[in-house]
Amino acid sequence: SQDLGTDIERILVTEEQIASRLRELAADIDADYAGKDILVVGVLKGAVMVMADLARALHSHVTMDWMAVSSYGSGTQSSGVVRILKDLDADLTDRHVLIVEDIIDSGLTLSWLIANLNSRGPASVEVCTLLRKPEAAKVDIDVKYVGFDVPNEFVVGYGLDYSEKYRNVPFVATLAPHVYS
Ligand code: PRP
Ligand code: MN
Ligand code: MG
Repeated sequence: SQDLGTDIERILVTEEQIASRLRELAADIDADYAGKDILVVGVLKGAVMVMADLARALHSHVTMDWMAVSSYGSGTQSSGVVRILKDLDADLTDRHVLIVEDIIDSGLTLSWLIANLNSRGPASVEVCTLLRKPEAAKVDIDVKYVGFDVPNEFVVGYGLDYSEKYRNVPFVATLAPHVYS
């Protein structure tokens, strides 16, 4: 099959930068949740890489659960229409919930998700995202743990896809124009 590298235009966040920032965030989370068990909720599919690496960098007791929601479909624009494709297995009553995301773009997915999880009686709900696009925000969300702010360009890699491809690229990058044509 064709080499992924020919489709990459520019690397925005390297593997080393991701690993080092996730270690810092994990240390912050460990300190903030000292003595508490955390229910980490990964938002499929984009958050798989962040979940896997963040969870291994944590020293706290965690339960890992997954939710699948989708607002993008196969395109590059957020529709704002959030669908639950898979709900959590866990009961959130009195749990400390930490939502883990790969990216906050418009913020529409997450603002819907926070409200949804808050309605289930948790002790707390916080958010950890690897990437955030401040210029794309359509709603204001209080995000406690942010890896990197990135410019308002379409990015792929480390879980982020374009038409379900490029999730396995180990860094965060923009795509060459020929990919879109
Ligand atoms: C992407 C990304 C976030 C969301 C951010 O998921 O992983 O979950 O969009 O967009 P927003 O802030 O504008 O709502 P997507 O819906 O593409 O599903 P995926 O994770 O399966 O790729
Ligand atoms: Mn996603
Ligand atoms: Mg997607």
